[in-house]
Amino acid sequence: MVQATPFLLVLFLALGAQGLSVKKCSLTGTWVNDLGSNMTITTVNANGGFAGSYHTAVTATSNEIKVSPLQGAQQRGPNQKGQPTFGFTVNWSFSDSITVFTGQCFVDDDGKEVLKTMWLLRSRVESIKSDWKATRVGTNIFTRLQS
Ligand code: BTN
Repeated sequence: MVQATPFLLVLFLALGAQGLSVKKCSLTGTWVNDLGSNMTITTVNANGGFAGSYHTAVTATSNEIKVSPLQGAQQRGPNQKGQPTFGFTVNWSFSDSITVFTGQCFVDDDGKEVLKTMWLLRSRVESIKSDWKATRVGTNIFTRLQS
């Protein structure tokens, strides 16, 4: 019993640490970004597919903002070592635009989950002559609001 105690302690700590690292960077939950926009990802399926909703704090239009659906995928390749890459599309329900986000989930030095993303916002323009001004690009950083 005396010899078993240190072994059990090490096993317990190892399993505990693994459990913590597994829980981090699951995309499921509610996130807020640096613009004050919120998104909720409901569930990530076994293939990495996910869906959710996005409430943007800002708009390039004069339309009233409405919560909009999102669909995406998280990388689930065989060599996953945590901190996964992902992409998702927001199909705006109050404008003719669409936004694609791509990014990676990181666990920072304080153990906090951070989603570093880049996006392309495609607006509808009336003709091909205006195509040059139809796409905006930017970055957003998301942190977890609640799980
Ligand atoms: C539109 O204006 O047509 C739709 C809303 C676009 C909101 C953009 S998407 C990229 C950036 N990040 C956000 O959280 N909101 C803006």
